[in-house]
Amino acid sequence: MRILLVNGPNLNRLGSRRPEIYGRTTLSEIEAAVRERAAGLGAEIVAFQSNSEGALIDFMHEEADAADGIIMNPGAFTHYSYALRDAVEATEKPLVEVHLSNIHAREEFRHRSVIAPVALGQVAGLGWRGYLAALDVLVAIIRERAGERQ
Ligand code: DQA
Repeated sequence: MRILLVNGPNLNRLGSRRPEIYGRTTLSEIEAAVRERAAGLGAEIVAFQSNSEGALIDFMHEEADAADGIIMNPGAFTHYSYALRDAVEATEKPLVEVHLSNIHAREEFRHRSVIAPVALGQVAGLGWRGYLAALDVLVAIIRERAGERQ
């Protein structure tokens, strides 16, 4: 099983960026924790981060066909990138949207996600552990769906 782990703009700054909101765990630590958990579940992680909308879309075009599911923290693109939303929708792969912070408890502009309507679901406010929760649920749902098709 192959899962894409995609992080959007500014998430490369995790660890030093507003730790009171996003925590002190770095993106490489998160990626390592997700990889380790995935290995235990028999899944492989392909991790990618970019600050550029186009690079994120290109990555989806290149990698989604060969993937079984996607975990994505789209960063601020969550709130306004219809281009990323269209790219997600076009993959036809199950995607769990992750936010370290509880976007619903923050500024008004963060309450809306244009990605959420094309996602399986959303995890928000659980810090770095939210990525692990997303992985567990995603793998279970992919396996369940594969079983139903047999
Ligand atoms: C974020 C929330 C977004 O509003 C913000 O722009 C981010 C991080 C989160 O993980 O909590 O970059 O996606």
